Amino acid sequence: MKKLKRFGVSMNENLLKKFDDFIKKQKYKNRSEAIRDLIREKFVEEEWEKGKNVAGCIVIVYEHNIREIVNKITDIQHMFSKNIISTQHIHMDEENCMEIIAMKGNLKKIKELYFTLKSLKGVKYSSIIKSTIGKTLK
Ligand code: NI
Repeated sequence: MKKLKRFGVSMNENLLKKFDDFIKKQKYKNRSEAIRDLIREKFVEEEWEKGKNVAGCIVIVYEHNIREIVNKITDIQHMFSKNIISTQHIHMDEENCMEIIAMKGNLKKIKELYFTLKSLKGVKYSSIIKSTIGKTLK
């Protein structure tokens, strides 16, 4: 672990009160840990947009009875097999399925897969979790 350095932060009382409420809700033990996480989050966002060391997770929920949707989702994923690490399929109820697709590598490919899946007829919900491999966060 790298050496820790201390620094002072000044802010107005109202903002600090909001920050302390946020810390309590998010179950942080102290302000330092919360500030470190917020800074890391910003760097992850920046890394993500630059497309460096990108990783991500796509979540889709769809109705499996819609014609050909299961085959389409499988065919599309095969086209991105170099970037997909794993796929998890969850049968949510009689009609609905959820698929969680973990990816890494090229940002363009990850976005392309996400937009292709989310625009399919029968996909009711989709979301993407932006992450990085974290090489620059040490
Ligand atoms: Ni299913």
